[in-house]
Amino acid sequence: MSTRRYTLPVDQTKWEVPSGNVTVFNWEYDESRDQLLTLYEKGKEKQWNAQTRLDWSIEVDPRSPANGPDYAIPIFGSDMWERMTEEERADVRHHIVAWMNSQFLHGEQGALICASKVVQTVPDLDSKFYAATQVMDEARHVEMYGRYVQEKLELAYPINPDLKALLNQVIADERWDMTYLGMQVIIEGLALAAFALIRDFSEEPLSKAINTYVMQDEARHVAFGRLALRDYYPQLTQAERDEREEFVVEACYLMRNRFMAQEVWERLGLDVERCMRYVEEAEMTREFRTMLFSRIVPTVKDIGLWGPQVQKAYRDLGVLQYQDVDPDQLQAQDEALARSLDTSRGMSPEAEASARLAGVDPGRALEVEETIRLGDEEEDEPA
Ligand SMILES: [Fe+2]
Ligand SMILES: [Fe+2]
Repeated sequence: MSTRRYTLPVDQTKWEVPSGNVTVFNWEYDESRDQLLTLYEKGKEKQWNAQTRLDWSIEVDPRSPANGPDYAIPIFGSDMWERMTEEERADVRHHIVAWMNSQFLHGEQGALICASKVVQTVPDLDSKFYAATQVMDEARHVEMYGRYVQEKLELAYPINPDLKALLNQVIADERWDMTYLGMQVIIEGLALAAFALIRDFSEEPLSKAINTYVMQDEARHVAFGRLALRDYYPQLTQAERDEREEFVVEACYLMRNRFMAQEVWERLGLDVERCMRYVEEAEMTREFRTMLFSRIVPTVKDIGLWGPQVQKAYRDLGVLQYQDVDPDQLQAQDEALARSLDTSRGMSPEAEASARLAGVDPGRALEVEETIRLGDEEEDEPA
């Protein structure tokens, strides 16, 4: 994306992060775990093309409340919001939706880099296989959010400094499990909760579809993280596990306290301090922040990082109740919602895949099918 789309100056267009990776080859080609191979198979079968599965002809009005309900805007209800004209509110909507999708976009690039790093550094071949499918998934996610921001929103924000700091820490760490824990469990766990908000509450059909399909892919990524880390963490010493838990706690507090769209208030020339104070105290923010953890908490528990310091932090953050959420059920639901979106568009994923394999645009194939059906009906009618 050309940097002219950015609403704030981007201090560097190429960000270089030194990291001391150790690349691991593995010559044992027959030492595979069934569950990971099944996931790898699924990863291959569920590949799709973002250019054809989505309807990019949909027109998006980035200033419309259809993109997300106004009550989800952090300063909604404040006297600053109340005093704004409709034009000014439309500006806020545009900047918020651009800020959020830009963070998704930069985060997805982080996921792309991290998945490829896992291919290099994870010692088991079955994990390398699976992670290779994830690299492709993440590239598709970057492609989609990039196109959405560029073509539909026409406004972008640079990466949020706190997200950047966390990304830096995760990428600079040479241990493969830290890449996975930081990226897949924490950053993408937060992102998943935000994607779900758009999927479930936005009325903008393109963004809804993008997030529904991304969540279908992410369901596999989370499953991989759980399988790989659940096997790995019991093999570590208590001190090593403690170190991971400490990282989880710090990263969760950082994301909760800092990741709050401050750049938007600055850019719009609002009183930043007042905005931040309002956001800090608003009931909506509390609910939103709590909800952001709905995906992280059950995963952290499942992979066995459930010592006293993690539990204490989650109690303090008011998110301990998510420990009872069943991650398998959540994933099954994410996958089912994506399938039903395909079906509601009139084409089963299988039919769509075979249309694509035959080199036919699925939208066009659907039209053809419909024309044939209408033709048949006409023929059936008595003359
Ligand atoms: Fe992703
Ligand atoms: Fe992912």
